[in-house]
Amino acid sequence: MSDISPHNFPFRHLLGIGGLSPSEITEILDLSDEYVAQNRQVDKKRSILRGRTQINLFFETSTRTRTSFELAGKRLGADVINMTATASAIKKGETLIDTAATLNAMHPDALVVRHPHSGAVALLSQKMDCSVINAGDGSHEHPTQALLDALTIRRRLGRLHGLTVAICGDILHSRVARSNIMLLNIMGAHVRAIAPPTLLPGTMDRMGVEVFHDMTEGLRDVDIVMMLRLQNERMNGAYVPSTREYYHFFGLDQSKLAKAKPEALIMHPGPMNRGVEIDSELADDINRSVIREQVEMGVAVRMAVLDLISRQTSNQPPVGPDGGGA
Ligand code: CP
Repeated sequence: MSDISPHNFPFRHLLGIGGLSPSEITEILDLSDEYVAQNRQVDKKRSILRGRTQINLFFETSTRTRTSFELAGKRLGADVINMTATASAIKKGETLIDTAATLNAMHPDALVVRHPHSGAVALLSQKMDCSVINAGDGSHEHPTQALLDALTIRRRLGRLHGLTVAICGDILHSRVARSNIMLLNIMGAHVRAIAPPTLLPGTMDRMGVEVFHDMTEGLRDVDIVMMLRLQNERMNGAYVPSTREYYHFFGLDQSKLAKAKPEALIMHPGPMNRGVEIDSELADDINRSVIREQVEMGVAVRMAVLDLISRQTSNQPPVGPDGGGA
C-alpha cells in the first residue's frame, strides 16, 4: 500500500466550494489521486481515522453520495453510522436543531449531511462541535460532487485551466451545477450553461458563465459535456412542455454531441434519466462517457476530504470555507 503523503488543509468544515482557493482545490485533488491508487489495490484499508466516529445523516435519498461516504470512512478506519430522516426521531417531530444537539452529545468527529433545504447544513454546522460536510443542500451546493467531477476531468485531460465545459439541463434546481460553476471558475476553466430560460436561475449573469438556449450552439468545440437530470422533485409547476420535447431540444444525442470536440467527454452526476436528458447508448459509450469513472472518483475524493478535515479537528483551527472564520 502506498504511503499517503502529508498535506495541509486549513478548514474544519466543507460546506461549499466558495471560499476554497485554487491551491486548496489542487491539494484535495492531489490527495484524491493517491486514494484512487489505494482503492485499486486489494487491501484498501488504512487506520488514519481509527477511533473517530462519522455519522452520515441523510434527509434525502442518495445512492452514490451516501454509499461512497460510508466506504470512504470505513476505508480510513472510522466507525461509520448511517441515519436517514425516515428512520430517525425526525419522523416523530423532532426538529433539525434538536437532532443536531442529540447527535452532538454523542461526540462524533464528522457529520456528513444531505438536506432538501439550502442552508440547512450550514445551520447544523453552527450547532455541532465536530466537522460538518455538505453532501448536498437543496439547490445550493454539492461540493464533493464538484470535486469528484474535477478529479475525473483532470485525470482524463491533465488539467482544468483553459478547458471549456458545457453544463446542460436543469441548472435552476441543480446544486451540482452551482458547485461545479464555482470550482471550474476558480480553476480557470470556461463554463457554458445550456438550458431553456425556464431552467436557468436569475443570478446566471453573476456566476461567470456564458449562457446558451440552443444545444448545437452551446456545445460547439467544448471539451466536456456535463448533463444534468430534470429535478422533478424540486419543481412546483411545468418548467418544460413535455419530457419528449425536452429530449428533442436539450437531450444529448449523437447529432448534438457532434458539435463538441471529437474527443469531448460526457459526464453526468447521476442518477440519470435515460431518454430524457441523455441518449442511453451515449451514456454507456466507453469511448466518450466517464460516468462510471465519476462514481469511482467519488470514493477517493470523499476519503481525501475526510482525511484532510480530520487533521484539523485535533488542532481546532479556523472553521471555513463557508462556515465562518478562516
Ligand atoms: N450525484 C449524486 O449526488 O447522486 P446520489 O443522489 O445518488 O447521491
